[in-house]
Amino acid sequence: ELPQRVTIIEVGPRDGLQNEKQLVPAEDKIRFIHKLKSSGIQEMELTSFVSPKWVPQMGDAEQVIEHCTGDSIRNIVLVPNSRGVERLLASGCKSAAFFVGVSDTFNRKNINKSTRESMEELAPLILDLKRKGFFVRACISTAFYCPYEGKMDEQDVLKICEEFAELGVDELSVADTIGMANPQEVYDLFCLLKHHLPSALLIAAHFHDTRGMALANIFSALQAGVDRFDTSAGGLGGCPFAPGATGNVSTEDTVYMLHRMGISTGIQLEPLLDAVEYITPFVSRALQSRQYLLSKQE
Ligand code: HMG
Ligand code: MG
Repeated sequence: ELPQRVTIIEVGPRDGLQNEKQLVPAEDKIRFIHKLKSSGIQEMELTSFVSPKWVPQMGDAEQVIEHCTGDSIRNIVLVPNSRGVERLLASGCKSAAFFVGVSDTFNRKNINKSTRESMEELAPLILDLKRKGFFVRACISTAFYCPYEGKMDEQDVLKICEEFAELGVDELSVADTIGMANPQEVYDLFCLLKHHLPSALLIAAHFHDTRGMALANIFSALQAGVDRFDTSAGGLGGCPFAPGATGNVSTEDTVYMLHRMGISTGIQLEPLLDAVEYITPFVSRALQSRQYLLSKQE
């Protein structure tokens, strides 16, 4: 039986704008985020406390946080290391997302460490933030395929997830970084994870739509019992260190599909499409989201 209610974690301001060629001014990001929030979104990745040398697009993270927190929404920031945690503690943000790749090669390209080195570096940071009462999510990149190493082993994914669970993270976000997973693989992996991980641990699915399989993958994940999805307004998104990956599945197409299936999200489509419209002039490519394109025809 499918869940009756789904939680959307909006990742457009982070996954979307980290990958844009031209820098979006902080004040426009802030307006975009406020517009997104007005649609009823309750959880959002706002930005990243990563190195501005690696990802200049996120260099204004402090400014974005300052103007976008303090409400009842779960405002999440990506954090790669202890320097990121320092910046987090100095900000008003109470939720962090750490990230690691199942694939060693991808992890090196993304955060300049092996997967094992990353896990060792992150463990004490996670324990510290949990002691301080933070909400902590862990994003598992290349959980299906890696652009460098190909197909990943389910058991390696499970092992990393179990390690994060033992460290006490609140949520796992399991990602198809380059949009290569098929619905059968999605069903199998999420069934495996749901079976082995503690039931109190939140599990979200994070799909990129590179090959047009993301909505089918969401349906498959729903069948495996997943009721939390990372999506991006306008279908923005992509990791600068994952060649060939395009945007995340769009929030508006996901919300549309779920509502048509009688599954509630608490999100209203019209203000969401207004937010997408607002950000389009800052985006270098034509948006592929069907709901956005349809709204332009009317
Ligand atoms: P490094 O070069 O190995 O580290 O980078 P470093 O310690 O030598 O630092 C280099 C410079 O950056 C130094 O400055 C540091 O101070 C500074 P310098 O001394 O040269 O002036 N620095 C920082 N500055 C601000 N905030 C920090 C920070 N850390 C170091 N936190 C590092 C290692 C992890 C920093 C780097 O590789 C990095 O920032 N990587 C982030 C990459 C990234 O943001 N990727 C995208 C997010 S993940 C993703 O999109 C996948 C996801 O969507 C799921 C999916 O789809 O798969 C989540
Ligand atoms: Mg991503």
